Order: sequence, then C-alpha cells, then structure tokens
Amino acid sequence: MITKELINEIKQAVNIVDVIGESVALTKAGRNYLGLCPFHGEKTPSFNVLEDKQFYHCFGCGKSGDVFTFLEEQRGLSFLDAVRELGQQAGFQVDIVPVQQGPKSHHPHQVLLDIHAEAGKFYHALLMTTKMGEDAKNYLHERGLTDQDLKQFQIGLSPSDPNILFQSLSKKFSENDLLQSGLFNTADTNMVYDAFQGRIIFPLTDEEGQIVAFSGRIWTESDRLNKQIAKYKNSRSTAIFNKSYELYHLDQAKASIKKQREVYLMEGYMDVIAAHRAGVENVVASMGTALTREQVQHLAKFCQKVVVAYDGDKAGQAATAKVLEELGQFQVEVVRFPDGMDPDEFLSKNSPQALQNILNKSRMSQVEFLIHHLRPENPDNLQMQIDFVDRIAPIIANTKSITAQNTYIYKVADLLPDFDYSQVELAVNAVRLHQRQERSRDVSRQEMAPPLVREIPQQLKISPLIRTENHLLYRMQEHAYILNDYRLREDFHFYTPELETLYQVLKAEGEVSSYELAQMEESVQRAWYRVMEERLPEDVGQDELEELEARRQREWMRRENQVKSRTIREQTHVGNDAAALDELAQLIAQKRKME
Ligand code: GTP
Ligand code: MN
Repeated sequence: MITKELINEIKQAVNIVDVIGESVALTKAGRNYLGLCPFHGEKTPSFNVLEDKQFYHCFGCGKSGDVFTFLEEQRGLSFLDAVRELGQQAGFQVDIVPVQQGPKSHHPHQVLLDIHAEAGKFYHALLMTTKMGEDAKNYLHERGLTDQDLKQFQIGLSPSDPNILFQSLSKKFSENDLLQSGLFNTADTNMVYDAFQGRIIFPLTDEEGQIVAFSGRIWTESDRLNKQIAKYKNSRSTAIFNKSYELYHLDQAKASIKKQREVYLMEGYMDVIAAHRAGVENVVASMGTALTREQVQHLAKFCQKVVVAYDGDKAGQAATAKVLEELGQFQVEVVRFPDGMDPDEFLSKNSPQALQNILNKSRMSQVEFLIHHLRPENPDNLQMQIDFVDRIAPIIANTKSITAQNTYIYKVADLLPDFDYSQVELAVNAVRLHQRQERSRDVSRQEMAPPLVREIPQQLKISPLIRTENHLLYRMQEHAYILNDYRLREDFHFYTPELETLYQVLKAEGEVSSYELAQMEESVQRAWYRVMEERLPEDVGQDELEELEARRQREWMRRENQVKSRTIREQTHVGNDAAALDELAQLIAQKRKME
C-alpha cells in the first residue's frame, strides 16, 4: 500500500530543485530558483522553484505544484506513477502498483517491438558473456569503450552464422511476425537468413528508448580489409522504423537537451558514444543518412539551438554546409575538428576534457564557418576572389547584428588580397538594398525575383590596384604608341596575373583577337572583358600615365603589406614567432619606403 506517510517520506527524501533541474535549466535568484517555464513557451524566465517550500510556480501561465505534480504535468504520469518513480529513485520499496497494462500493449506493432527487444538482448548477451564475443569485445575495448559503455548503449554482436537469431526467436514468435521485423531475409530456397551476420550491433531506439532497428558494423580484420563490404549496415524500413525520423541516442539525450537548451549533431554512432564517454550527453546523430526535414522537426520539439559537430574531413565539412541550409529555424553554431578527425578519433588522441573543451569553447557562428568553408582555394586567383564575395555577401547581409556584419566583412577582406573592406561592404550593402527593394515590391512577384544581385558595377567590385592596371591595359590596347613605349621597358610587367597574360598577347600580336581569347582560361577572358568595360575619356590626359604608374606602385605595396600582415597573424597564431618576426621586419621596412 502507498500510505500518506510513505508519500511524505518520499517527498522529504528528494529535492524538487534536483528533479526539476534535470529538465529545466535553473539559476539561483535570491532564495529561489528561476528558469524558463516548461509548460508554456516563454523567452524570459518566470518559472520559480521555491526550495524551502518544495514547490514551483510560474508567474507566466499560473501553473504550480509540488514535485509529484511536476512529473504528472511534464511527463503525463499518473499521481501514483510519479510517486512510484521518485520513490524508486530515492531507494524506497514501492513496487505496490502492478506494472500498468497501459498504452504500451496498445501499440499496433507491439510484437515487432518485442522482437527487437528480444533480439537486442540476444546480441548483447552474445557480446558480453560468450567466448565468441571476446574478440569483438576486445576490438571495442581497443576503441576505448568500457563494459559500462557497452551496457549503456546495449551494444551487441551478431555471429557469423546464417540464422542463429532466427532459430532463437522462432521459439517465441511466429515466422510471419519475424519476417515483418526487417531482421531476416528469405532466399529462393525458402531458407530464412539473419540480416546481420558477423557484425557489431548498435541498437537504434526511438524517443522512448524502445529498440526499433539495428545497425551493424564490420569489425574482423578480414572484413575491414575487404572493400566490397559496407562498413555499416542498417535495418531496412519497417512499420516501426522510419529512418528519416528517428535520431540516434535521442532517448538518452532528451533530458540533457532540454536542460542545456541545445543539442550537438554528429555524423556517426561512434561519435555520439565518444561524446558520452567525455560526459557530454546532449548529442544525437542521424541514422547514417543526411539529416532530413522530419528529423529537423523532431529536434525542434526539444530545443531551438543546434551545434553541428560533423567530421573534420572534407566530406564532413561539405555535409556541414549542407545541413546549415536545413537548420534555418534553429540558432546554429559549428564545431570544426582539426586534422580531418571525427569526434571519436579526436577522443582517441586527446583527453575527455579536451573533447569537452572543443565542443564547448571553440564554436563558430555559421557565417564564420561559411567564410572559412567557401574561401578561395587559391587566394591569389582574382576570379575565385570575386566568386567568393558573390557567394558570401548575401550570407553576411542576412546576419541580424550590424556589428557582426562588420566583423565578417573585415574577415573576408582580410582573406582576399584584391579586396579591401570598402569593396566587400559595397557588395554586402548591394544585397541589402536589393532585398529591401524586393520586399517593398508586389509580394506576389517576390518568388520570381533572382536570388542574387549582380548590379554592382564590375569596376567597383575590384581593388584599386586592378582598377589601375585595367585602366593602363585599356590605354595600351587603344593606342599603339602607348603599347610601344611599354614594349621598350623590358622589366615592365603587370602585377595582376590575368592582365599580365593579356599583356603578353598584346605585346606579341598587337591585339587580343577573339580567336586568341577563346584559347585562354575563363578567368583571363573575364579579366579582358572587365578591361573593355572601362569608361574612359577618349583623350589621354597629360599626366595620366605617370599618375597611373605612381598609383600602381602605391597600391601594389599596400596589397603586399596586407598579405604580409596576414602571414604574420597566421604565423603568430600557430606559434611560429620567428617567421612572424621576420615578416614583421619586412613589413616595417616597406612601410618606411612608402612614407
Ligand atoms: P567508425 O568508422 O566506426 O568510427 O564510424 P564513423 O562514425 O567514423 O563512420 P563514418 O564517419 O564513416 O560514417 C558515419 C555514419 O554514416 C555511420 O555512423 C553510419 O550511420 C553511416 N555509415 C557509414 N558507412 C556506412 C555504410 O557503408 N553504409 C551505410 N548504410 N551507412 C554507413
Ligand atoms: Mn570514426
């Protein structure tokens, strides 16, 4: 019997602040604790927990109650279940009410869930308690997993026999049900085979923690060397497994996600387990595919912020850029792992504390990530620089904070030798202006508007150095006598590689013909058309060429200095002080020359 006395004892044994604190982030405010109300959506906290009186009250929605009411409200438990749950946690004997034949048995596919539960136990026992499991267990130990971890994630082993699971489960379930479970395949011979053979088994659970599918990883030496075998193999879709909806580890992560108000998104099961080993619980992974809309909506039930922590390799970074597009409704940050590592590899080479730190403290905003991700591979290539600015400008323009925008503009200008702050800013402003015009136009026409602006005159987009050189080349192709003067100056060359290429043709041929042009790289062709777009007065001014020459030298120095400053910062950043000092000395010498 549950007596009044027992209920009181249980209530005294637990602290409401701890219980609520498991799912609501509470901060101490005077004698009480304050947090965001879990019962109604709010942005400023009005949910109070009074520790001395052991009850809660929300000034926003008016809900209040004690620790039992909280569980009733929040988890939909009955009063007795709430008492029982807290009682058990506090170490009381409260197995008074028999296990409810509640909604669980009403699940339309209960038998499939039962089959998975049994299979999970079977695989886990095989790994943990048999001779057959020893080698596999060693493999997992070598990867850093303790027996406790194996238990926590119910990791198992499917033996490399054709149908040992089928034989075992046939004693309890009908063949028809077993064939619906997705865990078996039939062959022409009417034989039934286990879908997972010779693999380490990761149970995939739904939000409630019920196993709904499995993933199996190869592990033996010979399998790992065999390129024909897929590394991971997942259950096929069934009545209980929608791989586009489920998220790995969500059942165990959800309390922590609510409490931290954010979730880490990783690529692999082993990465999630690595985070757990480092004490980070609010982590999920998609089920071996790109994150789907359905999974995004699923996550939105729990929090509004996602920290993307995908693999540090090229594929992982590309996947990050892609997933950012899906996560529009979330606040997003990105963690990038060094040297192409994934979180699990990182933990194998660093301490748990180091993994916590990188997850927690070295996050970037999504714009910072995209600046890094989209930056030109070859920063000296002008066309790559222009394309980069075209792609990044709308992204920066969509940042809400103007201060952040300025920081990003600096970052971008800093990466590009041929752009300075004002040109990048111009590109960003052009996007903003364009968007404002679009908004004020007829709403119904908005969808047809092109997504990107190309209205900034090409000439304004490029650096003063290139503008000056364009001007000069324009004069050369226009007036043979100017070209001739320069031909005689053997040491003369253009600083901009594309213009230098064009100049060589001009010098040799006296013109840049369409035929000639068609043979050249696209970036050179585009550079030529930019020169042709110059709007210059017909007459060459008196000191025009001298002035051009002086400006050209000045701007070249400026560009060189920018590149040097960047090198200094980079070298300092990686701790190479000698190289940084060397560059600095050169920079100072050059600045003196300019004065
Ligand atoms: P480990 O190699 O065990 O450390 O796993 P990982 O997480 O580093 O694997 P990887 O980054 O290659 O893949 C990430 C996730 O993609 C895995 O957790 C699987 O869900 C899925 N995956 C990887 N390889 C395969 C495959 O061959 N087939 C399928 N279906 N899924 C795969
Ligand atoms: Mn890995």
